[in-house]
Amino acid sequence: MEKRKIVVIGSCNTDMVIRVDHLPLPGETIIGHDFMTNQGGKGANQAVAVARLGGQTAFVARVGKDGFGEQSISLLRAEGIDTSCVTTTEGVSTGVALIPVDDKGENSIIVASGANARLSIEDIKVAEPLIREAGIVLMQLETPLETLMYAAEIASKAGAKVVLNPAPFPKDPLPEEFLSHIDLITPNETEASRMTGIEASDEGSIHQAIRAIQRLGVRDVIITAGGKGAYTDINGELVHLPACKTKVADTTAAGDTFCGALCVALSEGRSLDDGIRFANQAAAISVTRMGAWRSIPRRKEILAQEN
Ligand code: RIB
Repeated sequence: MEKRKIVVIGSCNTDMVIRVDHLPLPGETIIGHDFMTNQGGKGANQAVAVARLGGQTAFVARVGKDGFGEQSISLLRAEGIDTSCVTTTEGVSTGVALIPVDDKGENSIIVASGANARLSIEDIKVAEPLIREAGIVLMQLETPLETLMYAAEIASKAGAKVVLNPAPFPKDPLPEEFLSHIDLITPNETEASRMTGIEASDEGSIHQAIRAIQRLGVRDVIITAGGKGAYTDINGELVHLPACKTKVADTTAAGDTFCGALCVALSEGRSLDDGIRFANQAAAISVTRMGAWRSIPRRKEILAQEN
């Protein structure tokens, strides 16, 4: 039987968002506008995107034993996500992100990892039956690297496609052994530059960076480039899939929406370029709305745009 389940391993945060005219400079205090508390976290955002866009999802994460954690679990369940491997952790808070969003919709994000930093190899061992059933395992870098490395190894040995969204990019290069278990990676231009030392800014340098990442051992590479769309290499040719034009309110979770949507399309047997088109459509809707989970579209919204 074809494996369609998508297991997302990663962070679960509560986002504290303030609208500002501009992002503060070092040492600057600014007066912002409205304040919102939203559900977020790159892992949880990606799991919600998968669920809303039609995928069958299980989420592997840790939250603190507090109101934020309880609320996240109950909202994840309400989305139809299997939360049997979302563990509540004593003595630590749920992850929190502080996010100013400027009048162009750009943000900066500070994460206090809290329980995300406790996601352990033991947790992955508990989740192994879910991982064995998965067609795709999707992860990011807001939880401990050694845990993700273990997860990638067992997922890859079990025959799942392992997808890595390398955000936030760590101080040190990603270990070769980790990359050897990754089938598809989705850096943005900055992350691609950090991975390769090539400033990925125009089509030539983006293609060079894609090839350099392929030489690190990852077969499929998608470089996301915000309002420009996304780039990949198919049979040695650079393919550019432009972003759908839209009015930007807040780019928070656009990359997560892209990754979740891409995995749904791939789990349905769609090709890489078709998957990127679907992911671009989903991300374009997400940037028109404020917040993380609250901005992520449902599949019927994409279908409505197509008709
Ligand atoms: O990618 C956006 C996410 O990054 C936010 O929801 C925040 O929680 C941080 O994890």
